[in-house]
Parts: sequence; C-alpha cells; structure tokens
Amino acid sequence: MSAIVHARVTENLVRLRLGHVAERLDAVLGEAARSEPTYLDFLDALLGQEVTSKRHKRIAMGMKIAHFPSVRTLDQFDFKFQPSVDQKLVRELATGRFIAQAENVLIFGPPGVGRTHLAIALGRAAVEEGSTVLFISATALLVALAKAESEGNLADKLTYYGRYKLLIVDEVGYLPFERRSAHLFFQLVSKRYERGSMLVTTNQPVTKWGSVFGDEVVAAAILDRLLHRSHTLVVKGESYRLKQKRKAGLLGTSPTPQV
Ligand SMILES: Nc1ncnc2c1ncn2[C@@H]1O[C@H](COP(=O)(O)OP(=O)(O)O)[C@@H](O)[C@H]1O
Ligand SMILES: [Mg+2]
Repeated sequence: MSAIVHARVTENLVRLRLGHVAERLDAVLGEAARSEPTYLDFLDALLGQEVTSKRHKRIAMGMKIAHFPSVRTLDQFDFKFQPSVDQKLVRELATGRFIAQAENVLIFGPPGVGRTHLAIALGRAAVEEGSTVLFISATALLVALAKAESEGNLADKLTYYGRYKLLIVDEVGYLPFERRSAHLFFQLVSKRYERGSMLVTTNQPVTKWGSVFGDEVVAAAILDRLLHRSHTLVVKGESYRLKQKRKAGLLGTSPTPQV
C-alpha cells in the first residue's frame, strides 16, 4: 500500500514540477523519520529545498544565456586598488534596482582598469536577482546587426536584443564605427530607450563619441538616450594588468606607462 502511495506522491511531485523533492523523496523521508520535525517544519524544509534548487537552476541557465566571456564578481574586485570607483554606487547597482527602472549604466575609463570586470560582475548580480542579461562586445553586436540588416531581418534582430532586461555592450569606442553601424547602434539604443537597461563600457569620453560614431549628430542622439536616466562610473588610474606585471618584475617601478 505504502509503495502505491510513494509512487503516487512521486508522480504528483513531478506533475507539480517539484522535481528536486521528487528526486530526493527517500532522503527527505529518511531525514524526517530521524529528526521528527513538526508538520510545519517538515513542509517548510521541503518547500525550501525545492525553491533553492529552482533558484540555482534558474541562475545557472541565466548565466549561460548571458554569454559572459569570463567569471568576474564584485567580491573579486579590489576597490582599494581603484579608489576612483564609487563603491557605494556599484553596490547599489548590484541590487538591480536600476534595471527595474530601465536606467542605463555607463562605465568610462582607459584599458585595463576593470571596466569589463565591473560589467560582468554587475551582469552576474542582475542574473542572480532574476533579470535576463546578454553580454556582447560592441564589435560583435555591430557585426550581428549589419548581417541582419543585409539579410533583411534587422527588425527581428532588434527585437531579439530588445528582449533582455539588461543588455551589456562592452568596449564601445575601441574600434570606430562606420556611419552605417552608428545608425544601427542608434536604432538599438532607441528601441531599448526607457524600456530596458543598457550597460555600456567605453574607453572614450563622451566628447569623443562623435569621432567614434563618425557622425556628431548620431553620436549626440545616442548619448542623449543613453545618458538620460543613467548612472556613470568613471574609472581612472592604473591598469590592473600592468600592476600585476610590475609585481612580477616584468616592468620597471616607474613611471606609469601610458596605455
Ligand atoms: N580593481 C580590480 N580588482 C581585481 N581585478 C581587477 C581589477 N581591475 C582589473 N582587474 C582584472 O584585470 C584584468 C583587466 O581588467 P578588465 O576588466 O578587462 O579591464 P578593462 O575592461 O577596463 O580593459 C581582468 O582580469 C580583471 O579581472
Ligand atoms: Mg574591457
């Protein structure tokens, strides 16, 4: 009889998509028999296990979908090395509230100072908070948009990039955009404007965006939308990569090489 009930419970757990508990049913029952919890505590532990398992699965899937190029977290970020970074703002951004408000984040700074690190870390925090995130380099994004345009499905592609709660575009300004690309980027920014957040990292100050986009008017239109309701991090200081090389004795101690 109890075997029938056991089978029915398993079946119903699966039907209710409580797969984790279904898999661990025997262990859960064994543990309950040993520790004899109250009914409420038993139910609490049971549901807690399922919720935790679902959360872990969702986060793992979200990290995959985001296509982060590497694992970088805020815990790994040495704020002491980079005092120009507003730690309080970074921690606030990590709560994901800016995503709920469809606000943008712009991270400015020279190479090696941790812009991509911060972008990935904030992206991971957003995934953990339940947002859908996509990380893409500016170059890859523009290649994809130009390809979509030439194949006649730009609208679909813009919709695709519009779907994510947070779109991270890394390294705007590294390579100058062609005029056509600048216009494609403008369309993307417009599509997401006030609907979804973008996080953009760049090595160029806003005053140089005209030359990055090859067109002052388009650059101004892009900046207008990106900067309206945005948070800005300006990372100054030394390249972390160079610091590590210096530590390893590969470079002299001074002066700081300009990168
Ligand atoms: N303040 C920091 N604390 C810890 N690691 C850092 C820090 N800044 C940079 N790094 C590391 O140095 C390397 C270069 O940083 P990255 O984020 O790629 O720089 P950027 O995108 O600004 O060129 C990465 O491996 C990154 O994790
Ligand atoms: Mg980078």
